[in-house]
Amino acid sequence: MSAPRATLVRPARAVRGTLRVPPDKSISHRYALLAAIAGGRTTIDDYSTGADCLSTLGVLEALGVPVTRAVTDAGLRVTLDGRPDGFAAPSAPLDCGNSGTTMRMLSGLLAAQPFTATLVGDRSLSGRPMRRVAAPLTAMGARIALQEGGRPPLTITGGPLTAITHTPEVPSAQIKSAVLLAGLGAEGRTTVREPAATRDHTERALAAFGVTVTRAANGDVSVEGRARLAGGLALRVAGDPSSTAFLAVAAAGLPGSVVEISDVGLNPTRTALFDVLRRAGADVTTTIDTERHGEPVGRVRIAHGDPAALVITPDEVPLLIDELPALAALATFGGSIEVHGAGELRVKESDRISALVQGLAAMGADVEEFADGFAVRATRRLTGGTVDAHHDHRLAMTFAIAGLGASGDTAIHGAEIAAVSFPGFFETLERLRA
Ligand code: S3P
Repeated sequence: MSAPRATLVRPARAVRGTLRVPPDKSISHRYALLAAIAGGRTTIDDYSTGADCLSTLGVLEALGVPVTRAVTDAGLRVTLDGRPDGFAAPSAPLDCGNSGTTMRMLSGLLAAQPFTATLVGDRSLSGRPMRRVAAPLTAMGARIALQEGGRPPLTITGGPLTAITHTPEVPSAQIKSAVLLAGLGAEGRTTVREPAATRDHTERALAAFGVTVTRAANGDVSVEGRARLAGGLALRVAGDPSSTAFLAVAAAGLPGSVVEISDVGLNPTRTALFDVLRRAGADVTTTIDTERHGEPVGRVRIAHGDPAALVITPDEVPLLIDELPALAALATFGGSIEVHGAGELRVKESDRISALVQGLAAMGADVEEFADGFAVRATRRLTGGTVDAHHDHRLAMTFAIAGLGASGDTAIHGAEIAAVSFPGFFETLERLRA
């Protein structure tokens, strides 16, 4: 079989248009996982069609949860019949695909289920650290085996759990969520003490399912064990602010651009990017129109502004973690960026520091790699070139956006991985081209 052709991105003068972005990946995972343990049938409209969120549905079905999918005017409608009295033991390994969120959050749910399950993933996920969830879940009473270096496959045997207070080794919404989900099935009150605030969709989704979640003045988040979740909900997922990041950066970077995105999640733990874009000189307006199941939803308008130099400090990193590659692309349009305290990028879907620096350098950028970050200096216009997405959806989209500002074409190998979070990304980009 011949190798798939690379995706070609031509330079653009500007991007203009009004659109919606695909549904939020983080929220879709959470609604499906909570519906699976709630009583009754829950309907989720505008569920993400990204590969990661489909992996979550697949593993839930393999655990005996009835799932239906239908394409309606409201996007993908998913219904799940919850199994509040327990999942069925799976007959084969559970395939989490490329999705770290699926593997980590599902481990939290499986910790309380009295059977053994093995969680596997693709080659990218198979290299990612899992001790960070295995350690707290083991302390609660689950038995977990990992491969060398704490990598997947992850084999978990659940059972009776005891509540703990856990301080994650790194700020991570996935670790927080795994521990809170395990806490729902534990005896006593489980608390997560975050080293820094991370996205809080799990807390908001739990509240929508009728669970009391407390947040103390110091930021500690707690749930009571032996919780019963009220299902029978009709939920709808808003657009993913992390997907807007790529389009927002294109609009901010290319003179004459204006992009307006509607029906997008504006949860304050996800909007740090928009503040940073303002700092970088862009003209950004966000408007909250409504609240859906505890999540603010609205519009964002991004217009070009003269680029300024950006420094991202370590304390800003946790709430910008998924947007840092897109911000690196912004620096290639002028201005510059320096990021420190972002070592976590090395254990995402790829080593996002080295793969990003390598790719942007191949496109002609002036870049520097640090152990915990990177710098991009706009001393010259990109030429374009040939890059590899490294099986990482956010890198595929980052190189595409940087390519819009280059003097020549950019060929991206493995660009189809963008569909992990943004199905139709390249078609959307073509539509916005002015
Ligand atoms: C996510 C949390 C983040 C993020 C990932 C999705 C989530 O990971 O990078 O894309 O949905 O909770 P960490 O919490 O591990 O940083």
